[in-house]
Amino acid sequence: MNDWNKKKPSGSRLLHDSIPFHSVRFSTSPTPIHPLARVHAMAPPPSDQPPAAGPAEISKVLIVIAMQTEAMPLVTKLKLVEAAAGESMFPKCAPWIRYHGNYKGLHIDLVWPGKDPALGVDSVGTVSAALVTYASIQTFKPDLIINAGTAGGFKAKGASIGDVFLASDVAFHDRRIPIPVFDMYGVGARKTLATPNILKELNLKVGKLSTGDSLDMSPQDEAAILRNDATIKDMEGAAVAYVADMFSTPAIFVKAVTDIVDGEKPTAEEFLQNLVAVTAALDQAVTKVVDFISGKCISDL
Ligand code: ADE
Repeated sequence: MNDWNKKKPSGSRLLHDSIPFHSVRFSTSPTPIHPLARVHAMAPPPSDQPPAAGPAEISKVLIVIAMQTEAMPLVTKLKLVEAAAGESMFPKCAPWIRYHGNYKGLHIDLVWPGKDPALGVDSVGTVSAALVTYASIQTFKPDLIINAGTAGGFKAKGASIGDVFLASDVAFHDRRIPIPVFDMYGVGARKTLATPNILKELNLKVGKLSTGDSLDMSPQDEAAILRNDATIKDMEGAAVAYVADMFSTPAIFVKAVTDIVDGEKPTAEEFLQNLVAVTAALDQAVTKVVDFISGKCISDL
């Protein structure tokens, strides 16, 4: 609670706190009172509370990205610097990496879960994404989370290579629990923060995002993705959304399409082929989103 909302102890309020100076003068004046002045004098005394504060401007933005290749162009563009080992704010044993800086009036923390300590590859997937999101929310208390990354797209739903989507909904497609209600828990479907003004202003596509821990897609995953009505498929989004929701932190999901899941090419090959070029499109879109956010409140998005 801030000072404005602190209640004064009862009995401490003085009479002149609530009666405007001019009304006291008029009420004791022997001269006739101007009708307008009377209206003014009869108006309820102004409250000693300040006017309610409007919605707060967004000041801290957390960007969660899974891969170094996806993160670095954005780090450069936003002129972020890597937190030194001592000031990373994360436990020493965690491979998570934080970049930070000020950009157009926003304080930005960009985190990626780092390399797997044993294998040296990016720690992609839901477990690392959830952990680094949790630790970052606890440490940085962001006003808004942007989960940015690449995704597979379904051409049957209108996705093409290089498209950048803002996800309207997220859900999991590989958490199968065929017991009533647990089934819904497994799918974990939720709506993302509605951002009609970002969509109006920026040239982004909208679609539902389905998340699982595999780059490829089993027939069971495919059936679940269809049920999720997804246009894009990634390996982190629904996990980030789960943690963001738990801590009531608004989150948006910006995903660029590297491969067409229902196309002819093998997914892994197409993903690797397009990763760098599509990351440039992602980087451009996220920068535009951050530019748009600057100086705005959540309700303006
Ligand atoms: N990221 C990029 N392409 C993907 C795919 N096909 N599935 C999951 N995550 C992805």
